[in-house]
Order: sequence, then structure tokens, then C-alpha cells
Amino acid sequence: MLGAQLFTWLQGADFYHSLHAAAVDLLAPSQGQQRWLDVGSGPGLVARLAAARGYAAQGIDIQPAMVHAAQRIARRTGSAATFRVGGIEALADETAAVVSAASLLAVLPSPQAGLRALWQAVRPGGALLIIEPTAAMGLAQARQLLRAQITGRRKYALYLWAYARQGRAVDPAIYHTLNAASSTYRPLLHGLVGAWLLHKQG
Ligand SMILES: C[S@@+](CC[C@H](N)C(=O)[O-])C[C@H]1O[C@@H](n2cnc3c(N)ncnc32)[C@H](O)[C@@H]1O
Repeated sequence: MLGAQLFTWLQGADFYHSLHAAAVDLLAPSQGQQRWLDVGSGPGLVARLAAARGYAAQGIDIQPAMVHAAQRIARRTGSAATFRVGGIEALADETAAVVSAASLLAVLPSPQAGLRALWQAVRPGGALLIIEPTAAMGLAQARQLLRAQITGRRKYALYLWAYARQGRAVDPAIYHTLNAASSTYRPLLHGLVGAWLLHKQG
């Protein structure tokens, strides 16, 4: 429950919203409600951003409290995104044009196995979007950015995020194990976070 409140608060920070919006914008707007699955959705920010871009977006999270928070926010904001309880381990029969995971891989027992499960759910010709703090995420770097570069609502939430994630970055080398048809890397939040967009062969 505390986790859901904390992540609802974090997802409401301007810098957090902006960087996730920039990552979602790496995908073209959907023509005809293509399916987008956001795994480990927390209170639903990425799924709501995808729905606003015309996707039939669904967030999946293993914690019921996260899903309830996401459903409440979607109702309140008029978002068409839907949410359900589920684990990455049970994705076997799912496919979607876009699969995304934000700040998920590093909290899994095996990021590599998690990545493979996400990739398997991407339909041929589709894309996988990973958003993860990088090895540059740390308290000193957060302090430096907060001095001059980051403004807006709840900007000090960055300290909390940096504290929780420093030293836990996923090794980007794992993305090269997927045999993607193409890949794009976009540094976000001055390089403290990265977005990896990997396209699957059609
Ligand atoms: C660090 S939070 C990130 C939440 C959100 N994606 C964001 O970026 O704000 C990780 C989320 O992944 C969920 N999660 C953890 N293990 C999972 C699993 N095996 N399958 C699905 N979701 C999982 C947690 O419940 C939590 O909501």
C-alpha cells in the first residue's frame, strides 16, 4: 500500500512525467488502437501516456494496490488505459505491438529472464521500450541537477529515486542479446535515465 502511495507521488513529479512522456514519444502515434502492454506499470503513468497517443494501452502489475491506484487515476483523469493484476512470468500467451517496462528490470531477480519474457510478448514487427535508470543515477548527480537544471513540482523526489536506484543499474549489454532488427538509445534526465527502443523483425 505504501509502495502504491509512494509511486503515485513520484509519478506526479514534473521531471518524472516529462522523461516518461519523452520515452513514449519515441513511438509513433497509433493508427487504429494498436495494443500496448506496460509491464510493472505501478500507478499507470506509461499506460496513460500510451493511451493518450492512441494505443489500446493496458498496464499489468503484480501488486493489486498498484493496479487499484492506476485504475483510480485513470478514472479521475478520463484516461482510456486499463489495468490488471499480473506478473511478467505469466505473459507467455500475450502479444502486443508495443511492450514497455519502466524501472522494472532492475527489481526482478533476473533482469535477463525478465527481458526475454518482455521480448517474447512483442509481436513480429513490434517494439519493446525499456526505461531504466543508468549507472549515472546517484545522489551526487541528483544534487547537481537539482541545483540548476531541474525545476517543477516535486523536484526533490529525484533524491528519493536516486537513493533507491543508485548502484542497481541494469547492464545495457543485455539489450544486445535480443537480436533486434534495430535499436535506438535515448538518454533522458541528463543521462541519469535511458530509454531503449528495440524493434522486432516483421
Ligand atoms: C520500481 S516500480 C516502477 C513502477 C512504474 N513502472 C514506474 O516506472 O513508475 C516496479 C513495479 O513493478 C512491479 N513488479 C515487480 N515485480 C513484478 C513482476 N514480477 N511482474 C509484474 N510487475 C512487477 C511492482 O509491483 C512495481 O509496481
